Amino acid sequence: MYRFALIFPALILIAGFAQQSSNPPAAKTPSYAAIPVEATKQPNPVKSTPESLARAKKWWTLDCEMCHGKNGDGKGDTAKEMKLQIVDFTDPATLKDRTDGEVFYIIKNGHNDMPAEGPRIKTEENWDLVNYVRSLAKKNGEAKQ
Ligand code: HEC
Repeated sequence: MYRFALIFPALILIAGFAQQSSNPPAAKTPSYAAIPVEATKQPNPVKSTPESLARAKKWWTLDCEMCHGKNGDGKGDTAKEMKLQIVDFTDPATLKDRTDGEVFYIIKNGHNDMPAEGPRIKTEENWDLVNYVRSLAKKNGEAKQ
């Protein structure tokens, strides 16, 4: 009986610790569970043409580059100052599992530390930016010039 009285509280303590460490505060992997299903399925009406990418570049330089970096590696000055955790768009794996609709939604509505573009840009320009972030992925490990 005496031994049980000691072991039981100890077990509760251990169980409590295990739960805490497997559940770290503020999960760093972004979860986009809140994106409505219809939004994720929305097809991209804008082809990724040189014209679309050129239009997007203007907004990228103005609104995105300070965080995501000129080439999309996530090492922009503001990102460094704010110590933001930012994905690397030069890695083709980053957006591999995202639909264009999801990327559109994230740009339009923001997410955590990522500010929303909202009505600042036209819908078509928002799609241009989807094309642009996709174009930043390195092909065959080559750096984008
Ligand atoms: C203030 C810094 C900041 C600015 C400015 C910013 N972003 Fe982001 N962006 C972030 C952060 C931080 C995340 C990660 C969000 C998270 O953790 O949920 C992110 C995430 C994203 C994602 C989702 C990546 C994924 O996980 O699939 C996309 C797409 C994106 N940004 C595009 C853009 C575009 C396009 C612009 C310009 C219109 C822009 N961002 C401007 C900080 C920024």
